[in-house]
Amino acid sequence: MVKICCIGAGYVGGPTMAVIAFKCPTVEVAVVDISVPRITAWNSDKLPIYEPGLDEVVKKCRGKNLFFSNETEKHVAAADVVFVSVNTPTKTSGLGAGKAADLTYWESAARMIADVSKSSKIVVEKSTVPVKTAEAIEKILTHNSKGIKFQVLSNPEFLSEGTAITDLFNPDRVLIGGREETPGGLKAIQTLKDVYAHWVPHERIICTNLWSAELSKLAANAFLAQRISSVNSISALCEATGANVSQVSSAVGKDSRIGQKFLNASVGFGGSCFQKDILNLVYICECNGLPEVANYWRQVIKINDYQKSRFVNRIVSSMFNTVSGKKIGILGFSFKKDTGDTRETPAIDVCRGLLSDKAQLIIYDPQVPEAQMIKDLSTPKFDWDQPSQNIHIAEDAVKQSVKVVHDAYEAAKDAHAICILTEWDEFKSLDYQKIYNNMPKPAYMFDGRNVADVAKLRQIGFIVYSIGKPLDPWLKDMPSIA
Ligand code: NAD
Ligand code: UDX
Repeated sequence: MVKICCIGAGYVGGPTMAVIAFKCPTVEVAVVDISVPRITAWNSDKLPIYEPGLDEVVKKCRGKNLFFSNETEKHVAAADVVFVSVNTPTKTSGLGAGKAADLTYWESAARMIADVSKSSKIVVEKSTVPVKTAEAIEKILTHNSKGIKFQVLSNPEFLSEGTAITDLFNPDRVLIGGREETPGGLKAIQTLKDVYAHWVPHERIICTNLWSAELSKLAANAFLAQRISSVNSISALCEATGANVSQVSSAVGKDSRIGQKFLNASVGFGGSCFQKDILNLVYICECNGLPEVANYWRQVIKINDYQKSRFVNRIVSSMFNTVSGKKIGILGFSFKKDTGDTRETPAIDVCRGLLSDKAQLIIYDPQVPEAQMIKDLSTPKFDWDQPSQNIHIAEDAVKQSVKVVHDAYEAAKDAHAICILTEWDEFKSLDYQKIYNNMPKPAYMFDGRNVADVAKLRQIGFIVYSIGKPLDPWLKDMPSIA
């Protein structure tokens, strides 16, 4: 029986290992973490992350061939294959602050593996890391190994939150990078390939050298984010010209060379990966003497920031240039539907923008707890572009201006405006007539996700702004926000 241990029981480590255990009954999987509450939750009925289908998979395997534990050293020592799926956030101080990946957690995991290992192991990079990290990891392992042999593989994860289980069950590809030039490297690649071959068709398991695998992950996220910034840049032009971004992206995406996916205009992309990984790419380019390439990718994030501030400016300018003291109902706070994750959610920037214009916010999200929202809105934000301009709204001030409610109708009641910031399905089928009746007039709808039926809402009486859609005559008359 192959024994796998995964260090890091987060959004990637938890679901990925649960699916490996589910698909490979002959493999024993232990997922370990330094966080006691996280492991306790993985062992309880309320898992620490919300992900459709995850509960069923975990319930089927937990206690049989899937274990969650805080005994990190014990499980690492016993494993043949050690996945490392710890967080790799952007550095917020020191060299490379605002861009480079912070590999503190990775390095401490690697040192621990070297310390406790008594038999040879395959160490797998599951976290997204800068190109050449495997070389650094090899050095840490071999210099501290007491003669034990390690093979390092790169096996980046491509799952998306909200669809993690279906993505893992049916991946477009599994990428394994290793030392193809050595017999030991080839054997390690084969061992990992055998694990995935339990359910992934052979032709979808791609093997490359280490650096290609590491870079492919950063490049894939950069390409995806670039599509969103491209369509978002066009959305601004649509509003200025009367074109409709949904029609434009549909027409553009019909070209089979371009394709329809990832062309939905929005208030901006969020999530823990896109911004972090592009900044990481920018930093690597700069370190390799490629400033033009760095600037190209930096622009993807700049457009994303522009889109978020454009949205806030649109709200304020439409409402007679002030939202001071006005109630604004916020529908959705997570960075996308079907997850409770709020990392880098555009809702944070939009809400902060409205709070700094003294709005009163009433927020509803079906999955994000109140404490998380208050924490997100009051934690000092590190501005990657202008670190000296970091915005901070004190927790007391946030609590005075933000009310969190448990129902969309409650969020909209007596509100001067509603903002849709996450595309939760339930927002499509709300009774907007009822909502309108309970709002002071003029009643505004600002749809940052293009989920609302604009024509229907206008018929009800709303003044509607929907990203990239032809502007309501009311909004056209308002001062320019360019
Ligand atoms: P996460 O923060 O949810 O989980 C990381 C976990 O690692 C935490 O629970 C933390 O306590 C634990 N940890 C940190 N250091 C540790 C140590 N030394 N020993 C034991 N546990 C330790 O992060 P995540 O979203 O799962 O992301 C993990 C990695 O995967 C990142 O590099 C990320 O870029 C990458 N990734 C994330 C996604 C995603 O959708 N979230 C998708 C693909 C790749
Ligand atoms: C992303 C990658 O898709 C995944 O492959 C990688 O492993 C991790 O990062 P994730 O961040 O979970 O996944 O979600 P994703 O579906 O990519 O959405 C990211 C952000 O882009 C969300 O805020 C989403 O709302 C936004 N988005 C997505 C758009 O604004 N428009 C689109 O067309 C698609």
